[in-house]
Amino acid sequence: MNKLIVSLLLTLGISGIAHAAGDATAGQAKAAVCGACHGPDGNSMAPNFPKLAGQGERYLNKQLQDIKSGKRTVLEMTGLLTNLSDQDLADISAYFASQKGSVGAADPKVVARGEELFRGGKLDQGMPSCTGCHSPNGAGLAAAGFPHLGGQHAQYIAKQLTDFREGARTNDGDTKIMQSIAAKLSNKDIEAVSSYIQGLH
Ligand code: HEC
Ligand code: HEC
Repeated sequence: MNKLIVSLLLTLGISGIAHAAGDATAGQAKAAVCGACHGPDGNSMAPNFPKLAGQGERYLNKQLQDIKSGKRTVLEMTGLLTNLSDQDLADISAYFASQKGSVGAADPKVVARGEELFRGGKLDQGMPSCTGCHSPNGAGLAAAGFPHLGGQHAQYIAKQLTDFREGARTNDGDTKIMQSIAAKLSNKDIEAVSSYIQGLH
């Protein structure tokens, strides 16, 4: 076989794994066990359990792979993904991605500061705005794996930003985008931007 064909096959094979096509209908049944915490349609009621409804499929699939392999620690999900195949994770991701996400409300006391950070970043410290990757309405960029944030529970968002900053969530890849951004956020900044995101749609 010539080299070109080998590299073509490799490329197809690798992208085939990374983008194992998910089947939302098959995913619904497989996601039944997740509903207790994340809500049957992915709109969780508890502020520490993230909403999954309407989240990008690629992002969901990556997180599930990372949680399963231990690259991202989620104690509440220990052992839950062990017996799920790549196809199961892709189907579950497709199911939650196809659901409509609900939106919460921002705290009026901090919304102005939150909006300033989300839309303007902290240019004096070289921190970009959030809109470039997560989009102005918080919808993210599903194809690129940039997560949807709008409407997510503020408590969950604040924990993620703190975890990125403290090195407790390190699975944002070699680029470490979120770790370097969160390093520039004070606790007050995190509170404000998280509250703003909860009401964003
Ligand atoms: C006992 C409660 C519980 C169950 C059951 C559970 N999860 Fe989770 N899940 C959590 C918690 C808590 C987090 C957030 C952890 C953190 O703060 O980082 C989470 C995080 C996630 C994330 C990351 C979300 C994001 O925005 O990055 C995904 C994806 C996820 N869960 C999918 C699932 C799936 C699929 C199932 C079922 C197979 C499931 N979970 C079952 C509690 C649970
Ligand atoms: C250069 C692109 C980029 C910018 C700018 C950016 N993010 Fe992110 N963000 C990402 C990527 C990529 C991820 C997913 C990391 C992963 O795959 O684990 C992410 C993940 C997150 C998460 C975790 C979501 C979840 O469901 O767990 C939060 C919260 C977040 N970003 C908030 C912010 C905020 C707030 C800002 C602005 C202060 C911001 N991001 C700016 C690219 C960016």
